[in-house]
Amino acid sequence: MSKHVLITGGAGFIGSNFVRHWCKNHPDDNGRVVVLDILGYAGNPANVADLEEQERFSLVKGDICDRSLVTELLTREKINTIIHFAAESHVDRSILGPAAFVQTNVVGTFTLLEAFRQHWEAQAKPSHYRFLHVSTDEVYGSLAADDPAFTETTPYAPNSPYSASKAGSDHLARAYFHTYGMPTLITNCSNNYGPYQFPEKLIPLMCLNILLGKPLPVYGDGQNVRDWLHVSDHCTAIETVLNQANPGDVYNIGGNNQVKNLDIVHQLCDLMGELAPAMGMELPTAPRELITFVRDRPGHDRRYAMDISKIERDLGWSPAYNFETGLRQTVEWYLQHRDWWQPLLSEEYKGYYAKLYGQR
Ligand code: NAD
Ligand code: DAU
Repeated sequence: MSKHVLITGGAGFIGSNFVRHWCKNHPDDNGRVVVLDILGYAGNPANVADLEEQERFSLVKGDICDRSLVTELLTREKINTIIHFAAESHVDRSILGPAAFVQTNVVGTFTLLEAFRQHWEAQAKPSHYRFLHVSTDEVYGSLAADDPAFTETTPYAPNSPYSASKAGSDHLARAYFHTYGMPTLITNCSNNYGPYQFPEKLIPLMCLNILLGKPLPVYGDGQNVRDWLHVSDHCTAIETVLNQANPGDVYNIGGNNQVKNLDIVHQLCDLMGELAPAMGMELPTAPRELITFVRDRPGHDRRYAMDISKIERDLGWSPAYNFETGLRQTVEWYLQHRDWWQPLLSEEYKGYYAKLYGQR
């Protein structure tokens, strides 16, 4: 039976990588592939422009909080599967302005769940329908250096407005399974990196600042640890969960790859120092000289680490990318795609950047 998928946030970083992955892996599928994205600052039609020619694909500009639009799409496109990426995703922005995070991440997820419940019930609750909610490791809070990694049963302890709003949305997705029997799935993933990531996030921000000769702002002492996963691995994990997991299941996804921020910044400096000149781009300043320690992020989680033994054991998924190779490819991608990122450094973005980094 064909899956007719609604991919919310499919014009963002992970969503667009997932749509491309999906279309590539289902070349002869008649199923609809509908992206619903508000096309805000992080949602970029260019991220999915190469898919526009496919008849089964459509990009709809709209808000997941718009119940009538969501209901209309579910009905018109005969959607039987939602993969829900849409979110306000940047922790620093959630500190500057939390309201948008509660609206999209909590109210928006609730709106989708309600619309999908009505749609699923109207079809007499087909057993193959799925609502996969894409979430984050940040809901589990912060680990000390020698704490064991997060498992699916680690209690929630979110520390930022972003992670609190994601935790709220996770709880709603869970409740819709337990209360209504609606076939929801939840994935909690660690930090992603790869092509099409908006320049506000650590890895692209450092790459672009090196290229532009701007300071590299390292928060606090730079010893915070994140568990990095290539976005392609996240896509295969989501598809695996969608195809194999039982309704109501929760899976952690991660890279078994804990790295300190400062180590990543050093790696990026070295990669840029090697690759940019080789591609004909002279760097204005030796990259490591740009490193600047700045005031820490409020409530900054010290360490994340994911225990992924459940998805490895139950579903046979594990990460395929090697971090060194993946990071090198990512740096090359940013060097090769100035036409993609240059327009993103808009007046709005410059205003955000000045507000966040100007006072640090
Ligand atoms: P992103 O900011 O690049 O993309 C989010 C997308 O959602 C954008 O295209 C944006 O326009 C869209 N969107 C925002 N508000 C919307 C609304 N009200 N209606 C419709 N669309 C809206 O984020 P990302 O990094 O691709 O993250 C995608 C999802 O994955 C998020 O739910 C995030 O919490 C989760 N996640 C991200 C990471 C990571 O490292 N980036 C890790 C784990 C989980
Ligand atoms: O862990 C999963 C999460 O990863 C996702 O849920 C979020 O959507 C995603 O944005 C990401 O959150 P982080 O806060 O970990 O990512 P970010 O790229 O903002 O920061 C990574 C680390 O680098 C973090 O410890 C803060 C630090 N940092 C970040 C920026 C932007 C700096 O030191 N300097 C910076 O300028």
